[in-house]
Amino acid sequence: MTDRRSALVTGVTGQDGAYLVALLLGKGYEVHGLARNAAAFDRHRLDNPDAEKALFHLHDIDLTRTAEIRNLVAKVKPDEIYNLAAQSHVPTSFAEPEWTMEVNAAAPIRLMEALIDIGLSRHTKVFQAASSEIFGEATGCLINERSPMSSRNPYAVSKHRAYEASLKFRSGNGLFVVNGFLFNHESPYRSPAFVTRKISRAVAAWAKGGREPLRLGNLDARRDWGHARDYVEGMWLALQHGQPDDYVFATGENHSVRQFVELAFAEAGCRIRWQGAGVEEVGYDSEKGEKLVEVDPAFFRPDDIPATMGDASKARRLLKWRPRIGFAALVREMVRFDMGLTD
Ligand code: NAP
Ligand code: GDD
Repeated sequence: MTDRRSALVTGVTGQDGAYLVALLLGKGYEVHGLARNAAAFDRHRLDNPDAEKALFHLHDIDLTRTAEIRNLVAKVKPDEIYNLAAQSHVPTSFAEPEWTMEVNAAAPIRLMEALIDIGLSRHTKVFQAASSEIFGEATGCLINERSPMSSRNPYAVSKHRAYEASLKFRSGNGLFVVNGFLFNHESPYRSPAFVTRKISRAVAAWAKGGREPLRLGNLDARRDWGHARDYVEGMWLALQHGQPDDYVFATGENHSVRQFVELAFAEAGCRIRWQGAGVEEVGYDSEKGEKLVEVDPAFFRPDDIPATMGDASKARRLLKWRPRIGFAALVREMVRFDMGLTD
């Protein structure tokens, strides 16, 4: 018999999965990681490979395979579940709304139902990765847990559905389920499908001599960008609190895609001179005149949230959570990682 705590983490091949598994192993947890493609699990992302050998167990299961998930949960009886698996790319959700709904809404709902059926609703705590996308646009004020919700894409609809169902399981079945309204968080482990990593990789390629301009969509979109390492700590803290509740995790400031690009190229010693407007806008190296950035309408979205910004004061007050890594440090870390440099 051991008093070691156990956790089941879905989506371990993703960005947050990598940081969370390392954090939990560092705290002495036994961790069960779920991946639909276990071969893609990058063991180099773990801080402590020795802990991994003994305490990390990888399960190759698609989140939508209800019976297999149910069997695993019944066998492992985890103290905590962190549901991070998702179709998390907003543009893909416009192209594949049904699949997005299946993975992001139906599967977590079935997972929570399974906990109740198996009799674990009073034992297992659940963290559900909700999203700032649920709120839509911040109109003049910071978004907090009481802000009105307004989904503008199929991804947001799916996350909203899972959120609503979780409230029902919490109040009706006594399930300890926490929603984290996560604002954008990035890192060197971010998939290049998202704009920050697309930029950091392009800058690194430029620094290595490549001369292909970086093609981007909406340069003026503003996001509240934090670092994933800080956000997974918030997830853990939220499950250690005495009561299940919902929290915004955000930095409280936002920056434009354009600012991210400027700061990222500055890491490679380039200052950008912008010329033109709209789809004709181009960013040149202010010294050499080479074209660094151009606008490509292929990356525009049918509907794009112009700006997000969150108020995490509830998480700060109740969980003592605060983001430690600021915007400039985040950009620097991502670009330097892609350049093969470490501090
Ligand atoms: P991510 O890098 O896209 O990781 C998502 C993970 O889910 C991947 O490991 C992916 O596996 C897995 N997955 C997708 N479909 C699956 C399925 N059917 N069965 C099993 N696994 C599946 O996302 P992230 O940035 O780590 O985000 C973690 C969670 O937080 C997601 O739920 C996301 O929606 C939410 N969130 C993230 C942010 C952010 O800024 N990062 C903000 C708000 C909310 P593959 O590698 O096989 O694709
Ligand atoms: N991906 C991408 N690619 N986005 C671009 C590009 C481009 O070439 N050019 C401009 N953008 C703009 C998008 O239009 C959007 O306004 C902004 O950059 C950020 O896009 P993403 O990095 O794709 O992230 P996201 O904000 O749509 O979604 C992320 O954050 C959400 C939380 O607010 C994802 O991680 C979601 O899963 C998450 O819920």
